[in-house]
Amino acid sequence: MTMIKVFLSVKNRLKKFCLYQLSLRKWMILIRHPLEYQKRKRMAKCFSKTSFSESLEQIKEKGYVTASSLVDTELRDKLDAVYLEKAKELSYYINTVDIGRSKTYMREMLVGEDFYSDSVFVKFALQNSIIEIVSSYFGQIPYLARIELVLTVGQCHQQWSHSQLWHKDYNDKKMIKFFIYLTDVETDEDGPFTFFPRNISEKLNLPLFPVHKSDSIFVKKQIMHQFKKMKGPRLTTFFIDTYHCYHMGSRLPHGKYRVAFVATYTTFASHLAYDNKIKISNSASSLERLILETIT
Ligand SMILES: [Fe+2]
Repeated sequence: MTMIKVFLSVKNRLKKFCLYQLSLRKWMILIRHPLEYQKRKRMAKCFSKTSFSESLEQIKEKGYVTASSLVDTELRDKLDAVYLEKAKELSYYINTVDIGRSKTYMREMLVGEDFYSDSVFVKFALQNSIIEIVSSYFGQIPYLARIELVLTVGQCHQQWSHSQLWHKDYNDKKMIKFFIYLTDVETDEDGPFTFFPRNISEKLNLPLFPVHKSDSIFVKKQIMHQFKKMKGPRLTTFFIDTYHCYHMGSRLPHGKYRVAFVATYTTFASHLAYDNKIKISNSASSLERLILETIT
């Protein structure tokens, strides 16, 4: 019994040490930019009486919330129109494997001009309601760490790897992803984003390594009936806290594909370095600059 206690104690200390190592970059940036941190916290207080308090409460408790009713529909339709134009070349994307990418089941559909701050993709990620919720959740103005228009393609072999296995994202302690599906994701075969809500993930107390975990670990815990699949028709929109929720996705059978636009928000001092590649135009507001500028 004592041996088990010692083992668990060492295991927990090791986990804490690894997470502490991850925090080094965060602390370096906070020490270098203390005023930036204060400014972001101060500005986020403007959102403290958020009109989206119900959604905010659900993210805090369960780590996710649907957001279809929160988005600017005009902006959403513009994004959809740009996507549909790109989708005319979908077969090209499906048949082109980016050999530099380890995730061979994924293709990135955003190109040069999509990364301008006045592109519909960036504007969609910067819309007021979304920034208000993320800022209130973080307690500070976020950094838009990444935008992606991701095409996921079913593979012949069904050996799941990388993000197709269960994991948490450790890129920052405060981290949220904002999804909009651009294809219907109504069945298991459409590749729904799958996760354990935060309140369940937090009880699991799993080791940090391996970061990507097989189904068998969760089967042993007898909790496989508690995961949730985000399903819905195209344009379904949702937030997910991928730091606190075990998740996996993109498990598609051969011949199937899924497209989603995903915006990732972290704090400006994230654990791991990001470069959002966004070119900020002169017309960007000071708030937009704060969200888009990469600080090193
Ligand atoms: Fe992930």
